Amino acid sequence: MDTTFLKRLITTSLGRKSLMAVTGLLLGAFMLIHLGENLLLLKGETAYNGWVEFLLSNPITPLLELGLLLLFLVHITAGVWVRVEDFLNAPRGYEARRWQGGRTIGSATMLYTAAAILVYLVYHMLTFRFVDHSMGFYQMVTGAFRSPVFTSIYVAGSAALALHLSHGMQSAFQTLGVSHPKYTPLIKAGGWLVALAMLGFALISLYFLFNMDLKAAEAGFQVIIIR
Ligand code: HEM
Repeated sequence: MDTTFLKRLITTSLGRKSLMAVTGLLLGAFMLIHLGENLLLLKGETAYNGWVEFLLSNPITPLLELGLLLLFLVHITAGVWVRVEDFLNAPRGYEARRWQGGRTIGSATMLYTAAAILVYLVYHMLTFRFVDHSMGFYQMVTGAFRSPVFTSIYVAGSAALALHLSHGMQSAFQTLGVSHPKYTPLIKAGGWLVALAMLGFALISLYFLFNMDLKAAEAGFQVIIIR
């Protein structure tokens, strides 16, 4: 097997940036799928628990989880490496000029939003993944979101995720050389759409914080009584 390509991915700066771009796009795809899964919370307990239990009983799920862990690890390692390299090679005074030359809030804060997402992810794993699930996933998640502190963490984490992707998605395509006068505006718009979709995680938690599910249930109950 020719390992030159694999070696180049690790040993050259472009290779490391490409690794970061590909893993970033795949993680973005996971985020959209995960958002879709969690929108099932709005459909109710049976739909949500049914889906999560189907996932957990599926023999390929552990493999997908392993793949996901690998994506996070490669993305973080390549990201830190590229950042350190850029910092060491940057001309003097670069930090002071960061905001010049068309930089956006998203691009200038990538490192900070990355750190915030990592903290958010670890918190998420400790509170939803590595805990006792015997009460059922729906009860666990919706119960947690009734806490203002818990939901505030989700709102802040989702905002960091949205800001990170507002630059990350289009930057990944640029790194991979996908650039065309006709398609670049579409790619940018798509990147923004994916970024804005991440606020959906915040909206789900706010929905349960403000008991909107209970109000919807009550309204349904009243309709049944009036009938
Ligand atoms: C409304 C917000 C969210 C809810 C309700 C939610 C719910 C869940 C639940 C219940 C699990 C555990 C499933 C299991 O035990 O296997 C899980 C896993 C996971 N979540 Fe989330 N999540 C949300 C947002 C996020 C966000 C924003 C991220 C990324 C920053 C994320 C990343 C993950 C990952 C990587 C896993 C582990 C993979 C897996 O086990 O399927 N989640 N989520």
